[in-house]
Amino acid sequence: MATSSLGRVTRIFSALAQSQRPGTLLGRVAAELARLLEQPLALVVLSAPSHFVLAGVTGISPGRRLQLRHTPLDPARIPALAAAMARGGPTRLDSADLPYRWREVLGPLALIVPIWSRDRRGGLFLTPSLGTEREERLLIAEALGYQTGIALENAELLRRVSQKEQALRSMVRSQMEAQEEERHRVAGDIHDGLTQQLVGIWYRVHACERLIETQPEAAREELAVIKARIDESLVEARNALYNLRPSTLDDLGLLPALHSLCARFQEESGVNARLLAERMPDLPEHYEIALYRIVQEALNNARKHAQAQNLSVVVRTRGERLTVEVRDDGRGFSPRSQRRYRNAAHFGVAGMKERAKLLGGTLAVRSAPGHGTSIRVLIPLPLEVRALA
Ligand SMILES: Nc1ncnc2c1ncn2[C@@H]1O[C@H](COP(=O)(O)OP(=O)(O)O)[C@@H](O)[C@H]1O
Ligand SMILES: [Mg+2]
Repeated sequence: MATSSLGRVTRIFSALAQSQRPGTLLGRVAAELARLLEQPLALVVLSAPSHFVLAGVTGISPGRRLQLRHTPLDPARIPALAAAMARGGPTRLDSADLPYRWREVLGPLALIVPIWSRDRRGGLFLTPSLGTEREERLLIAEALGYQTGIALENAELLRRVSQKEQALRSMVRSQMEAQEEERHRVAGDIHDGLTQQLVGIWYRVHACERLIETQPEAAREELAVIKARIDESLVEARNALYNLRPSTLDDLGLLPALHSLCARFQEESGVNARLLAERMPDLPEHYEIALYRIVQEALNNARKHAQAQNLSVVVRTRGERLTVEVRDDGRGFSPRSQRRYRNAAHFGVAGMKERAKLLGGTLAVRSAPGHGTSIRVLIPLPLEVRALA
């Protein structure tokens, strides 16, 4: 075999190995294959879910190319093609087995070179064949099919990794935003609540100081008010702390924490709330916190927006999945129209979704005006928990 031909094949091998978008090289690879097999044309088709799509050509007119594009090859309908594909190496195929348009281009006999990699059948090269191709050339053609398959597979893996990386980055960003949002809220609470109370107490203590010598009775009354205000502030501080980090979650676990969350919700909102939960496995701490926060936000929303009479929280484990559903019979809303308003000021629903996503799960909001709201979270149980279940 001529050295120049070997050189070209070697160059295309290394181009394939280095390219991040080997799909763009397919025309060049087809041209090399055609030259190697001394044929005027070659076609590349790649596997798509239901058939092969034309991904590159050499030696045919744009018009022909368009015709072939509109006549996809379906290996399910062409057993000979599927068989050629299953073999790792080149196969000759009677073109009578192919659709008319392909037969027209390839002539009576076609050579099929599978594009494959470790565990994937990625597609095919097709060229006309005289039935006399030499063994050494067929071996090189086979290697070309394999190299192409590996390059395509690597590019696909790379694409998936970078997609995952992007998703992860955007999740981290929204979690940070949510955290910042939460801090603003807490700062606002402390400023409006506790700080104002302390200011009020400060003034009363000063008044007391003035009164204590001359009007001890009035001072005593002031002191009683001060004591009451301090009690209120303590309750406020405890509430704020509880919202920041519910002690029941640390001390007793998720279900008791949800129980007391529902009880507090009922007490404060007047909505009839109940928790229905089966026994469930112990979850890693970050699962418990995420699920707790999701339910907490769902209850906040029900209190703020729903005007409901009844609310239920249902926790279930089914096989390898955990579901939590918060449902109210309030006025509902249209989630579709809400999505447009998603911004930093309304991060509740988006934040719940992010939390579910971070655990590899999903969160669906079902609601319609006048028909109540259901928030349904579905989380795959972590492997270590499944093993115990
Ligand atoms: N349980 C519910 N009942 C009625 N409307 C709801 C309910 N939950 C959410 N919504 C609607 O969805 C919107 C977005 O909620 P959210 O993202 O938590 O933002 P926010 O509570 O800050 O308004 C709310 O403003 C409200 O209109
Ligand atoms: Mg909200």
